[in-house]
Amino acid sequence: LPLALAAVAVGYLLGSIPFGLILTRAAGLGDVRSIGSGNIGATNVLRTGNKKLAAATLLLDALKAAAAAWIMAYFAGEEAGIIAGFFAFIGHLFPVWIGFKGGKGVATYIGTLLGVAPLMVLLFAVVWLGTAFISRYSSLSALIAMIVIPVALWILGDEKVAAIMAIMTVISYWKHKANITRLISGTESKIGAKG
Ligand code: G3P
Repeated sequence: LPLALAAVAVGYLLGSIPFGLILTRAAGLGDVRSIGSGNIGATNVLRTGNKKLAAATLLLDALKAAAAAWIMAYFAGEEAGIIAGFFAFIGHLFPVWIGFKGGKGVATYIGTLLGVAPLMVLLFAVVWLGTAFISRYSSLSALIAMIVIPVALWILGDEKVAAIMAIMTVISYWKHKANITRLISGTESKIGAKG
């Protein structure tokens, strides 16, 4: 149990670091929450026009979750790694430091995958890039990739990780409510657009 608690704590603490907010502030771009969708993630950082900052946000938000999973797996075993990855995702979505108003969890979802089932990141990337190439919607691409991943894990027989990723998919869908409404009404902003 102490190890499980350590996994929760390490995961949450690393996951709750809002890199999108920190980087845009450090770059003198103001508060990313006051532009575009108001989200703290890489997609919205891209709406500042700074592609490098958006890439750095994606990378750091993903790596914080992978790091949490790697650290706990190293010290306490595979299950502790999975718990830490899951709570890094939770920490990103509900960071105590900024009033529990965190991101939508796409980068951290990828990071947790990188930590617990790294080859699946390739599948995520293929599905995301394919959907984005066709639709130009970041949200839709993530929403589709997050369905494919648990299904693929399930088919491959990794039921435990499939179940965890499926739970994360459901939570991230809930965080994407506004995006889903906009996708249905045709008002979702496309990648590269400022709105
Ligand atoms: O799936 C990407 C998601 O985070 C969308 O972000 O800023 O368009 O709501 P945003």
